[in-house]
Amino acid sequence: MIAFDVRHYDRIGSTNDEAQRLAGEGARHGTVVHADEQTAGRGRLSRRWLSPPGNLYLSIVLRPDVPVARNAEIGFLAGLAVADAVDALLPRPVATLKWPNDVLVNDGKIAGILVEQSGDALVLGIGVDVLQAPTGVSYKVSTIVGCGGLATVDGARERVLAALSNWLEVWERDGFAPIRASWLARAHPVGTMLGVRLGERLVSGNFAGIDEDGGLLLDTAEGRSRIVAGDVMPA
Ligand code: BTN
Repeated sequence: MIAFDVRHYDRIGSTNDEAQRLAGEGARHGTVVHADEQTAGRGRLSRRWLSPPGNLYLSIVLRPDVPVARNAEIGFLAGLAVADAVDALLPRPVATLKWPNDVLVNDGKIAGILVEQSGDALVLGIGVDVLQAPTGVSYKVSTIVGCGGLATVDGARERVLAALSNWLEVWERDGFAPIRASWLARAHPVGTMLGVRLGERLVSGNFAGIDEDGGLLLDTAEGRSRIVAGDVMPA
């Protein structure tokens, strides 16, 4: 188990920014920034991440013992960790995963993950909707409490960190293969028709898995596409 060093803030701009600042000062592997509220929370693809009190906002400084080229794998193991933590807080384990690293419950997004490089460290940002469903977003959302779960924000944080420590150990010991297999077992089944928004463009096709680097494989009318960034939606 990693000995996490949790630094708690009542209110902050973005926990990812603060974790990056600390990483720049040499913060060690396992340094955690947790805030009750963010005023400038951000999501993937430069989106805002609304961050009122009542949800979990966490960023972890990681200095994994693997080559930098494999950093993209962290998002997948983080998705598994958050799905495990969410399942442990719900009456029944029903969390699923959506590429690249959203965690869903009852088809609603319940958590988001944002991995950023910071010099020689990585910052893993995790937002989990515990009590407050974000408003004004274009996708369906779920919260732990709204799905019948029992959780405090601090309790959710402890579950997430314990599960993260477990999956990091698997990854550092056995590599990406078991992470990829476990991720695929909880994601949209191979063959599912998916639409992927790539900026202004929408690409549709059948989900054909993820490759060794975590790229999304889609069988389209034009053949197999490999996608590295985009938003997946059911087609
Ligand atoms: C996504 O777009 O799905 C990723 C959302 C990531 C949000 C978390 S909340 C804690 C951390 N700080 C941020 O500013 N963003 C991440």
